[in-house]
Amino acid sequence: MQGKVLVAATSKGGAGKSTTIACLAMYWRGVGRTVALVDCDPNQTLTRWHAKGGALSQLPLRTQLDEHAMIPTIAELADEHDLVLVDCAGFGNQAMVFAIGAANVVLIPVMADEANVFEALRTRKVVESASRLTRRPITARTVLSRVKRAAVVEHTRDQLAKRGLEPLTAQMNDRVLFQEATFYGSSPTVLDPASSAARDIAAVAIEIEPLLGLAVEPVVSPAEAEVSPVT
Ligand SMILES: Nc1ncnc2c1ncn2[C@@H]1O[C@H](COP(=O)(O)OP(=O)(O)OP(=O)(O)O)[C@@H](O)[C@H]1O
Ligand SMILES: [Mg+2]
Repeated sequence: MQGKVLVAATSKGGAGKSTTIACLAMYWRGVGRTVALVDCDPNQTLTRWHAKGGALSQLPLRTQLDEHAMIPTIAELADEHDLVLVDCAGFGNQAMVFAIGAANVVLIPVMADEANVFEALRTRKVVESASRLTRRPITARTVLSRVKRAAVVEHTRDQLAKRGLEPLTAQMNDRVLFQEATFYGSSPTVLDPASSAARDIAAVAIEIEPLLGLAVEPVVSPAEAEVSPVT
């Protein structure tokens, strides 16, 4: 497999997996990388957004609900693309385990509450088991998602760090544009490249690139990366 595989997973529903995958996909496409999507969530959220005919529909997407076809599907796409981004269901299932087994990096979105941290821990344990099973390192990072208030997020960040859940410095703040983008099957990077939401995504993407082993220099020109205050 030439391409790198990023999987968004957490057994906590609604934490921001599909949003993160859609937005990262459009960011990396925007800097000139080839990107393919895999939706292995029976609810098919990403597949629905993709079908709206917006910017997301320009990317190849495979809806793969047969867990036994997961690894061949990812391998096939990774042969032909720089990046394969996989969106998992909001509950632990076998498809998630296989996707994690094929991942270079697993991104675990976490909202700022105890239940999210608990499910992040469970998901990280799946990553550890998959890593042992496949006898290769699989990197896992948490990313704070849908962040509303700075004070609460700092506490969650501490909790994650204490449990070895390694939160990214960049975070996905709660912004209306992330929600709006889903109706258009698009992403902030495309709808409003100068927006705070687009800057959030760029910052997350740029922090993940070295973990994936991607060249640090983006292929075209990067959006300015910074962690923006919540608006
Ligand atoms: N950073 C954000 N700011 C505002 N709204 C967000 C953000 N991230 C996600 N949302 C909204 O929260 C909801 C859940 O997000 P999303 O579907 O990405 O989560 P998920 O983890 O994929 O959920 P599921 O477990 O059901 O698959 C959606 O309505 C989405 O638009
Ligand atoms: Mg989802």
